[in-house]
Amino acid sequence: MPIYTTSDLVARERYQLLTSLVVPRPIAWVSTRSAAGEPNLAPFSYFAALSATPFLVGVSIGHRRGLPKDTLRNVRETGAFCVNLATEARLPALNETSGEFPPDVDEFARAGVSLAEAGSVAAPYVADSPAVLECRLFKEVELGPGDNALVIGEVLAVRLSDAVPLAPGTLFADTRAVRPVGRLWGDLYALLGETPSLPRPAPGISTGG
Ligand SMILES: Cc1cc2nc3c(=O)[nH]c(=O)nc-3n(C[C@H](O)[C@H](O)[C@H](O)COP(=O)(O)O)c2cc1C
Repeated sequence: MPIYTTSDLVARERYQLLTSLVVPRPIAWVSTRSAAGEPNLAPFSYFAALSATPFLVGVSIGHRRGLPKDTLRNVRETGAFCVNLATEARLPALNETSGEFPPDVDEFARAGVSLAEAGSVAAPYVADSPAVLECRLFKEVELGPGDNALVIGEVLAVRLSDAVPLAPGTLFADTRAVRPVGRLWGDLYALLGETPSLPRPAPGISTGG
C-alpha cells in the first residue's frame, strides 16, 4: 500500500489526492457583482457548512495567473455573495460558468441563466435556483500567499423555492426533491443515490452538525 508523503508531492499531486479523496463535495454556485456592477457566476467545490450559530458557510477560492479569481475580487469589493444550490437540472449551465472568462464576461448571460437581485446583500442570484444563501463577508482567511483564500460568509437570508418541501414542522429543506449535485474529481460529478435513514444513538435532534 503506497504512502504519499506530503513533502515529496508537487501541487498538482496534492490537488489530485485531495479532490479525489474528499468526496463527494457539495458545490457552491457563487454569484457576485463587481464594484463596477458586472455580474459573475462560478462553481466552487471547496465549500462547507461551518456553523449554524453564527450562521456561516465557507468557500475556498484560488488565484489564476497570480491574480484573485473574479469571485474573490468581487467579494473583497462588495463584501457580498450568494450561494446557489447546484442541481442536476442546471449542471450543464454550472459547468459552463466554470470557464476561465475575463472579468467583463457575464457568466449568467453566457450560460443562459436568469438573474435576480438578492434582498439582503449586494449580489445577484440565479433566478430559478431552488435554494439560495444570501451571504455577507464575515471573514477572509489567507490559506497561503497568493494561493487560496477561505471566504467565510454569514448567511443573512435563505431563499427557498416551492420546489423544495420542508420536513413537516421543521426548516429541514428536503433537497432530495431537486436532485442536488456534488463533485468528485476532474470532470466527474455525483448525484444522490440512496438516502438511508439511521436513528441517532441518543434521542433528540442535533444542532451541532
Ligand atoms: C465543479 C467545479 C468546482 C470548482 N471548485 C473550485 C474551488 O473550490 N475553488 C476554486 O478556486 N476553483 C474552483 N473551480 C474552478 C472555478 O470555477 C473557475 O476557476 C472559474 O473560472 C472561476 O470563476 P471566476 O474567475 O469568475 O471567479 C471549480 C470548477 C468546477 C467545474
